[in-house]
Amino acid sequence: MGWFDVKIISEHFDVPEAKQLDYYERKGGYRSARKAVAMAPEAISAEVVASNLRGRGGAGFPTGMKWSFVPKDADTVYLVVNADESEPGTFKDRHILFWNPHMLIEGMIIASVALKVRNAYIYIRGEMAREYRVLQAAIDQAYAKGYLGERVFGSGASVDITVYRGLGAYICGEETALLSSLEGGRGWPRLKPPFPAVKGLWGKPTIVNNVETIANLPWIVEHGGKAFAELGTGRSGGLRIVSVCGHVKKPGVYELPLTVTGRQLVEDVCGGVPKGRKIKGVIPGGVSMPVLTDAELDVPFEFDALQKDERIREVEVRPGQKFDLGGGRTLRTMAGSGGVVVMDDATDITQAAWRIVHFFAEESCGQCTPCREGTGWLAQVAHRIAFGHGRAGDVDLLASIADGIAGNTICALGDAAAWPTLAFLTKFRDEFEAKVRDAHPVVVAGGHHHAPAHGDGVTGAA
Ligand SMILES: Cc1cc2nc3c(=O)[nH]c(=O)nc-3n(C[C@H](O)[C@H](O)[C@H](O)COP(=O)(O)O)c2cc1C
Ligand code: SF4
Repeated sequence: MGWFDVKIISEHFDVPEAKQLDYYERKGGYRSARKAVAMAPEAISAEVVASNLRGRGGAGFPTGMKWSFVPKDADTVYLVVNADESEPGTFKDRHILFWNPHMLIEGMIIASVALKVRNAYIYIRGEMAREYRVLQAAIDQAYAKGYLGERVFGSGASVDITVYRGLGAYICGEETALLSSLEGGRGWPRLKPPFPAVKGLWGKPTIVNNVETIANLPWIVEHGGKAFAELGTGRSGGLRIVSVCGHVKKPGVYELPLTVTGRQLVEDVCGGVPKGRKIKGVIPGGVSMPVLTDAELDVPFEFDALQKDERIREVEVRPGQKFDLGGGRTLRTMAGSGGVVVMDDATDITQAAWRIVHFFAEESCGQCTPCREGTGWLAQVAHRIAFGHGRAGDVDLLASIADGIAGNTICALGDAAAWPTLAFLTKFRDEFEAKVRDAHPVVVAGGHHHAPAHGDGVTGAA
């Protein structure tokens, strides 16, 4: 069987009628939800556990295990679908929302029955206006048919879905910030524990799952958890949807087996790098994930495989001082949000690094000092290196700022800025050092050499 023969979510991508309930149902849609409302909730959860489904929102946490954290005696449980997708380079969820909204709705009905949820929410990034309209229209169709609301499909289960539009803050994708935002408050992350599964929306147990995670549920209920696990590899079941952008001939959204390596993804799936250029670096899962070099691409772009490179366990942050890349996690990188960014050998890696840390500095919620101050400093130092104003010691300074942020913040946005910085510095240190060596100090009146603290690199003005 070839790579492209099995599809779970993407089969009808690009078919305009696929958004319509009639079409979806003709292709077998809502069969699983009908089946689920007649099942015991525990039986559905058992299939999800057996499926080895892992969360597609970033961390790859096993979905069945997350569900099991909901207290058994909870009077009210909420389901929240995270459709905030804002990580640069990541655009797979919006594709699902636009092309296959009914599969998400069907997955939500299944999850709601399994978790005994009456009210479910979709938190969608505000800028996704087109996706919002498609999604809301699909929900309206489902209500009109009696597939949502009181007694869905005439069963004893009742499920309501409400769509909430965010206002475009990246941090609102972090699950606790998302819940605060949904409650009408400021999108600020909360300390965990307690985890949302125990204390979430309005203090009640809440399962927050990614769009792709939930959209896999109809297939799992139809074919069984075991079949889903068998499609996957190791501890990860199913297929995976990735978005690919950057220097490839065929960027786009692809649903692929988890065994596909980075090189196969770039060369075979996406047609290779244009203009005969070579690959310099590939970010495997949204720009918060550490970059891989060309030499590291022959590894499956799958949760465990990407974390298992034993070669680099630590990075040197200051001469003689090492930073351990994480308890037990040999890291190098993670599958993250599924957003693959490919950079060819003409890419200025120092500028790419600056662009990335600048994004996180802009999006920091400012609640904790290491992140608020640290990301700002990262952006500033990275900027002066990238644009020709680097000073002696700046490369080590950058590493030590990143070191000061990683692991010291309320939420993972701090790590999201620190990890890629450390990876860029470890893998492309020569380029950063060359940039500093070749920096052009600005000569000011009186003959003093002066490099601006935060030169804009365009005017070179001091
Ligand atoms: C700064 C930050 C932004 C995040 N943005 C998203 C997002 O846009 N979409 C998403 O599904 N998860 C995002 N996450 C992960 C969520 O906090 C959460 O882990 C995820 O929605 C859980 O779903 P899953 O178990 O199905 O993966 C983000 C995490 C962080 C730290
Ligand atoms: S790490 Fe950054 S974004 Fe997260 S809570 Fe702290 S300041 Fe806010």
